[in-house]
Amino acid sequence: MAGGSVSECKEYLFKVLVIGDKAVGKTSIVKRYVHQLFSENYKSTIGVDFALKVLNWDSKTLVRLQLWDIAGQERFGNMTRVYYKEAVGAFVVYDVTRSSTFEAVSKWKHDLDSKVKLANGNPIPAVLLANKCDQKKDGSHNASHLDSYCKEAGFLGWFETSAKDNINVDEAARFLVEHILQNDKGIQHEESNGDRIKLDEVPMPPAESKSGCC
Ligand code: GTP
Ligand code: MG
Repeated sequence: MAGGSVSECKEYLFKVLVIGDKAVGKTSIVKRYVHQLFSENYKSTIGVDFALKVLNWDSKTLVRLQLWDIAGQERFGNMTRVYYKEAVGAFVVYDVTRSSTFEAVSKWKHDLDSKVKLANGNPIPAVLLANKCDQKKDGSHNASHLDSYCKEAGFLGWFETSAKDNINVDEAARFLVEHILQNDKGIQHEESNGDRIKLDEVPMPPAESKSGCC
């Protein structure tokens, strides 16, 4: 008889990307989420930064989120294909005070979908973050437009966030992880065995919260 242990605890490791134009607040969102810190100083990321967030999802589930905070300037480089590899979820961030960063969202999403897919061939779940909502928004920010934009562009949804005031950062992450977990279960169901890439088997970066350029 297969020995089903009483306390079957499931552990997952998910690689999640944080992408978007320069200075939209990607690093600030990650810092807020993982370390509960915020700084007004802007220090542009070079290459990619890593951070690890451990979530006690429920009494039987532990989720480790490996966050890949990719420098905005990387959209113009050749490394995104390498950085995106085996990611199972993404945040695409823009800055509500600068409409040019919203215009870039489609470019980031396109770059993402063209370079990474789930094992079943579907696009990886992506959530749009309208960051710096503590600031005065510029004209292009409009809730009903964002709803229809998300449908068109293939985002699961969008959140107004503020890394500064800690608005919606946890909520957005929870929303994304829920979808990642659903996908993981769906794929396990579709392919009970075989040579699929397991969502929870992603290579670890060198260390937690370390910066580095691959
Ligand atoms: P790159 O690494 O160059 O791609 O930029 P980034 O997207 O990581 O931006 P970063 O987090 O470094 O933030 C850029 C600037 O925006 C910094 O001065 C932050 O303090 C500021 N900032 C980030 N998030 C918020 C926010 O929610 N509200 C306000 N008011 N400022 C923010
Ligand atoms: Mg950064």
